Amino acid sequence: WQLAEQYGDIFTVWMGHIPAVIFSGFEAVKEVLIDHSEDFSDRVETPFLTTISRGNGVVLSNGHVWKQQRRFCIVTLRKLGVGKKSMEGQIEEESQQLVEVFAREKGQPFDPALSITYSISNVTCAMTFGYRFPLEDETFKKLIDALAFIMKIGFHPFHLVYEIFPWLMKHLPGPHKGALHAIEMLVSLVKKEIQKHKEQKSFQEPQDFIDFYLLEIEKRKNDPTSTYDEENLAHDIKDLFVAGTETTSSSLKWAILLLANRPDIQDKTYKEIEDVLCSSSFSYQDLKKLPYTNAVLHEIQRLKYLLLIGVPRQTAKDVKIRGFLIPKGTAIIPNLRSALLDPEHWESPKEFNPKHFLDQDGHFVAREEYLAFGAGARVCLGEQLARMEFFIFMVNLLRAFRFQLPPGVKELNEEPVAAITTPPHPYKVCAVPRCSSS
Ligand code: HEM
Repeated sequence: WQLAEQYGDIFTVWMGHIPAVIFSGFEAVKEVLIDHSEDFSDRVETPFLTTISRGNGVVLSNGHVWKQQRRFCIVTLRKLGVGKKSMEGQIEEESQQLVEVFAREKGQPFDPALSITYSISNVTCAMTFGYRFPLEDETFKKLIDALAFIMKIGFHPFHLVYEIFPWLMKHLPGPHKGALHAIEMLVSLVKKEIQKHKEQKSFQEPQDFIDFYLLEIEKRKNDPTSTYDEENLAHDIKDLFVAGTETTSSSLKWAILLLANRPDIQDKTYKEIEDVLCSSSFSYQDLKKLPYTNAVLHEIQRLKYLLLIGVPRQTAKDVKIRGFLIPKGTAIIPNLRSALLDPEHWESPKEFNPKHFLDQDGHFVAREEYLAFGAGARVCLGEQLARMEFFIFMVNLLRAFRFQLPPGVKELNEEPVAAITTPPHPYKVCAVPRCSSS
C-alpha cells in the first residue's frame, strides 16, 4: 500500500536481482487479469517453485501442460458433482460431522481451527481418492501436517533467499527443506492412492478424480500430444489439496471469528436463515433467497482476504501497458487484496460492512471489484466448490450454534498471520448450542 501510494498503481520491487512488477488497486489488477488475460496468463517460474512442481500439475505449470491439466480438472470436477446436488451431499455430510465435533465442546471455549481443516480436507479426499478419512487416521494426520508445513514456507524469508541463492540454499538446513520434504511426502502419499486404484481397476467404473484420470491416460495412450501421466495426476491432486484446503478453511475460521466479534450481524444472518429455510433441509440454490447471508459471506472474504497477494504470474511475451514496456518472463503480482480494499471502489474498505454487497432494497449485488478468486484465464478452478463449501458449512454451523466470545474476552484478534495465506491467529470461541441458548 505504501509503495503504491508513493510510486503509483504499477511499480517494480526487486527481490535481490529478480524484478517483480506489482499491480495495485482494482483498475490496475483488472487490466492484468481481464484486459491482458492471455499476456499475463503464465505462472512465474522461480527456482523454488520449479523444484516443487517440475512443470507438472495445474497451479504452477504453463503452456500445453497447463491447458490440458486445467481443462481436465474443470471437466472432472463437474463430473464429480461440483455445482450439482451430488457434491452437496458430500459437503453436507462433512459439515454435519463438524457440527458434532463442535457440539462435544458443550459451549466451552475451544480452538476450532484443526477440526475445520480436517473437514475441508476430507471433502477433497472424498473427491480425489473416493473416500474420507476417520479423523484419528495416521495417514490423514500426516497429510494435514504436510499441508500446514507447505503453507508456512510461502514468502517466508528462507523461501525468498532460496529464490535468490538456490545453489546455496539447496545445501543449507532450514524450513525450506522441511517444506520440500512435506511436498515430496504429499506427492508420494497421492501416488500410493493411485497405485491402489490401479490394482483395484476401479477406473473401469470411475467414481473419483483418480479413476477419471487413469481412464484418460488409457484413452490417450496413443496420442503424442497427451500430457496425461501419473506424474501430472499426482501433482494435480497435490495442487487441489494445497489450493483448496487452507483457503476454504481460513474463510471458515475468519467467519466464526468475525461473527463472534459482531453478535448483531451473526443474529441477523441466523434470523434470515431461519425465516427463509424454516429448519428444513436446504440446497446451495437457496443462497439466492438469502441476500443478507450472501452479503455477509462475501464481506468476510473481502475484508479478511485469505491470500497474501494472490498467485504470482509472469509475462508470456513483451507487454506494453500504460506506457510501460514489461519484458517477456517478468514476474507479475496482481495484488488481489488491494482490489478488495480499494478506497476508490468500496464505501468503507477497512470496515466489516455487508452493505457493500446490498442495494437499497436489501437485494444482493454482485460486484466486479470482488476479485477474491481472480479472473480471466487463470481464475480459480475451485471457485464453485469453495462457494458451495463456505455456504453449506456456514448455514449448518449457524443453525446449530451461536458463536460467542469466551468469558472475560472483549474481542478476538482480527490481525491476520502473514504467509501465502493469511488465516487468523489461533483463537478460542464458545459454540453455544442454539437450543440451549434460546
Ligand atoms: C475461499 C477459497 C478459495 C479462494 C479465495 C481461492 C482463490 C484463488 C486464486 C486467487 C487463484 C489464482 C487465480 C489467478 O492466478 O488469477 C486460485 C487458483 C487456483 N485455485 Fe483457488 N481459491 C479457493 C479455493 C479453491 C478450491 C476449493 C480449489 C480446489 C479444490 C481451488 C483450486 C485452485 C487451483 C487448482 C488454482 C490454479 C488455477 C490455475 O493456475 O489455472 N481453489 N484460487
